Amino acid sequence: MSAVRRICKYGEDILRRRTKPVSYDVIKDKLPALLADMWETCVSCNGVGLAANQIGLELRLAVIMLPVDKDKVQKFVLLNPKITEKSGVMEEDEGCLSFPGFFAPTKRYAFVKVRAVDESGREYELSARGLLAKALQHEIDHLDGKLLIDRVPSVEKSAVKAHLKEVSKTWQDAPAKRKA
Ligand code: CO
Repeated sequence: MSAVRRICKYGEDILRRRTKPVSYDVIKDKLPALLADMWETCVSCNGVGLAANQIGLELRLAVIMLPVDKDKVQKFVLLNPKITEKSGVMEEDEGCLSFPGFFAPTKRYAFVKVRAVDESGREYELSARGLLAKALQHEIDHLDGKLLIDRVPSVEKSAVKAHLKEVSKTWQDAPAKRKA
C-alpha cells in the first residue's frame, strides 16, 4: 500500500544537503514502493515534481508528473539525474511543495538536456523546454540542496523574502527553528 509522505518545509536542514548518487542495484528492491509513495504524495499535493530529500530521504532520486492533457500526465523517474546541456534563459513564477502557498519569479535555463536512470535501471536522456525544463532544473536543484529562493533575481529578493516570511506563518507542521 502506498502512502502520502510528509513533505519537509523550507527551513529544515535536509533540504539544504546535497544528495549523493545511489546505484540502481542498491536501491532497486525498495524502489517500486518508494516511487509509489512519491507519486501518491505528488498527486495529493497537486505537485509537478518531488525530490526524495523533500520527504526526508537523502537519495539522488526525483519524480516529475507533467500534465499533458486534461486528465493525462507524463511521468518521469530521475535517478542520479545530471544536466548535460543548457541554454537560453526564462523567468517565470515558480512554486514548490516545500514552500506551500508561495510563488516567486525564478530564473531558469530555457532549454536543458538531462541524463538519468529510470525505474527499470535504464539510462536515458531527455531534452526539454518550457514546464518540463523548469521542473527538471527545480528537482535537480533540490537534489543539490538548492531551493527556488536561491534563483530569484536579486532585484526582487527583498520583496520575495518579505512575502515568504508572511506565507511561512501559515505552515502548520514545520519545525519551530524555521529560518524564513
Ligand atoms: Co520543490
